[in-house]
Amino acid sequence: MSLLPSFQPKLYALVVGATGGIGAAVAALLEQDGANVTRWSRSSGVELTDPASITRAAASLTTPPDLVFIATGVLHGGGLAPEKATAQLSAEALAAAFAINAIGPALVARAVLPIMPKGRKTVLAALSARVGSISDNRLGGWHSYRASKAALNQLLRTMAIEQARRNPDQILLALHPGTVDSGLSKPFQKGVPTLFSPETSARHLLRVIDAATPAQSGQLIDWAGDVIPF
Ligand SMILES: NC(=O)c1ccc[n+]([C@@H]2O[C@H](COP(=O)([O-])OP(=O)(O)OC[C@H]3O[C@@H](n4cnc5c(N)ncnc54)[C@H](OP(=O)(O)O)[C@@H]3O)[C@@H](O)[C@H]2O)c1
Repeated sequence: MSLLPSFQPKLYALVVGATGGIGAAVAALLEQDGANVTRWSRSSGVELTDPASITRAAASLTTPPDLVFIATGVLHGGGLAPEKATAQLSAEALAAAFAINAIGPALVARAVLPIMPKGRKTVLAALSARVGSISDNRLGGWHSYRASKAALNQLLRTMAIEQARRNPDQILLALHPGTVDSGLSKPFQKGVPTLFSPETSARHLLRVIDAATPAQSGQLIDWAGDVIPF
């Protein structure tokens, strides 16, 4: 049984950030499932902070993708470390988090939404995070990451409203993958009650994508299929 029976049988998928923990697992599952998978990553020439690299990669796609899964993101490293207090904010870290977590995925969406097929179910899903929910923020901290994911959620929501008019069968989703054992979460796994393997999270997320309907477009949804209020 296909993992994505709600899509047309021969699925063309684009995975952005295919070298990441979750992105690699999603790409592998889709391929095992018989999908034709194109992988974008920095090693294949797609650098999210270089808009021209995104435009070039989109122009070289030979088949319009039914599913675009954006699995890129950053929490720490390269000068970034989640803030514990407002005094730790830096303009550079805020700008870097926004560039990779919000602006990059938005530029990918700008490049691929117009070429995705019409008249059948298509999905553009981007990995966000529960901590990007403003109403769910009870702990504080992680200012740059939280704010950049909130911006991503708002960008997707805004695009979803426009796409509902242009391509009513298309669904845009911001997804929370759970806490997943990857390089991104490594320093922050202590005390986490449930740590998913990338494959387990990927299976959950593909189930959510398969069940998604146009009425859900623009929402932030977790791995279990529950809507997270913005
Ligand atoms: N892991 C978790 O517990 C968790 C929880 C909530 C949300 N998320 C979200 O899930 C997504 C994937 O996380 P993950 O755990 O799979 O992390 P990961 O293993 O660190 O993967 C991150 C991916 O993003 C790519 N990337 C980073 N900066 C980039 C840039 N400037 N240009 C192009 N690609 C770039 C990386 O490419 P390189 O290989 O080239 O570095 C890698 O493919 C992120 O958006 C994260 O915020 C994860």
